[in-house]
Amino acid sequence: AVNLRGRSFLKELDFTGEELKFLVTLSAALKAAKNAGTEKPRLTGKNIALIFEKTSTRTRCAFETAAFDQGANTTFLDPQSSQIGHKESVKDTARVLGRMFDGIEFRGKAQKHVEELAEYSGVPVWNGLTDEWHPTQMISDMLTMREQSPGKDWLDLSFAYLGDARNNMGNSLTVTGAKLGLDVRMVAPRDLWPGDEVVGPAREIADRTGARITLTEDVAEGVRGVDFVYTDVWVSMGEPKERWDERIRLLKPYQVNRDVIAATGNPRVKFMHCLPAFHNRETQVGEEIYQHTGLDALEVTEEVFEGPHSIVWDQAENRLHTIKAIMVATLGS
Ligand code: CP
Ligand code: NVA
Repeated sequence: AVNLRGRSFLKELDFTGEELKFLVTLSAALKAAKNAGTEKPRLTGKNIALIFEKTSTRTRCAFETAAFDQGANTTFLDPQSSQIGHKESVKDTARVLGRMFDGIEFRGKAQKHVEELAEYSGVPVWNGLTDEWHPTQMISDMLTMREQSPGKDWLDLSFAYLGDARNNMGNSLTVTGAKLGLDVRMVAPRDLWPGDEVVGPAREIADRTGARITLTEDVAEGVRGVDFVYTDVWVSMGEPKERWDERIRLLKPYQVNRDVIAATGNPRVKFMHCLPAFHNRETQVGEEIYQHTGLDALEVTEEVFEGPHSIVWDQAENRLHTIKAIMVATLGS
C-alpha cells in the first residue's frame, strides 16, 4: 500500500508512478465526497503556510479552499509583506516556519529554494510552481484526463503538448507522462524542447513503464490521433522582455488553432491549458505581448479556447481536489 505521510511534494521525479496514481485516485475520492456532502476533515488543527514569491490565482485559492474544507488554517506570505528573500534567507525562514507550521507551500523562481525549505523546515513542503517544475498541476491534469477517458488504461492515453516545452509545464508533463505510461508528444521548436536532464530520465522511466516519449518539430505528425492537445503561455512569469521576440518567432507555428484540432483527426479531442491563458487581449501582460508582436492570437485562438473541445475549467476546478489530496496524503490523519 502507498503511504506518503510526512513526504514533501517537490518534483515528480521523487515519486513512483504508483504513488502519483494514488494521488489521482485519492483526488477523485475527495472530489466525490465533497460533491456528495460527505467529506471528512483530515487536517483539523493543522497550520499551513503559503509562500508566493510569484503571483497566483488557482494554486493559492486551491490551497486555501482545500485547507478550509479539511479543517486546516492557512497563512499567506508574499514577498512584499514578509522578510523572505530580501531580509532573511530561505534556509533561516525554513527553520522559523518549521517551528510554527505543519506544512508549507512554496511558489517561486528557484527549485533550490523549495528543496531548501523542505530540508530545513522538517515539515512537508509542496511545490506550487518553480521555474523548473509544476507538480501539483500534474495531478490535476492527470485527474482531468482520466475523467475524460472512462474505462481507459493509462497506457491508452495520449497527449500532444504544443509550445514552450522547455518551461516548468514542459518538464513536468514529460516526466509525469513517462511515470504514468502515457503516449507523450512534445511538439515544439528544437530550441525549446525539454533539456537532456529531463528527457534522459524520462526515457529511462518510459522504458520501464511502457510510456512513449516523442519530441518533434512537426505539428501534423505530433498531434495525429491524440486524445488531448495541451498548451501553455509562450512567455512564462519572469521571462525577460529581451527574450520575447525570439521566443514568439520560434513558437508562432505551434499555436493551437482549428487546423491543429483538425490535424488530430480525432473529433473527440480535448483542449487543455494550465491557465492563465492569453487567448484574447483582455489582460495587461497579454496586451503587452500582442502589441509587441503584432500577432492577433498567441498560444491558442479564442475559437479553440472557448470552443467545444475545451476542458480548461474542469482542469482548473481539479486543482482544488488534487491539492487537497496532496495535503491529505502527506499531512492528514
Ligand atoms: N495553473 C496555475 O498554476 O495557475 P495560477 O498561476 O493562477 O496558480
Ligand atoms: N509556464 C507558466 C505556468 C503558469 C501556471 C509560468 O511559469 O508562468
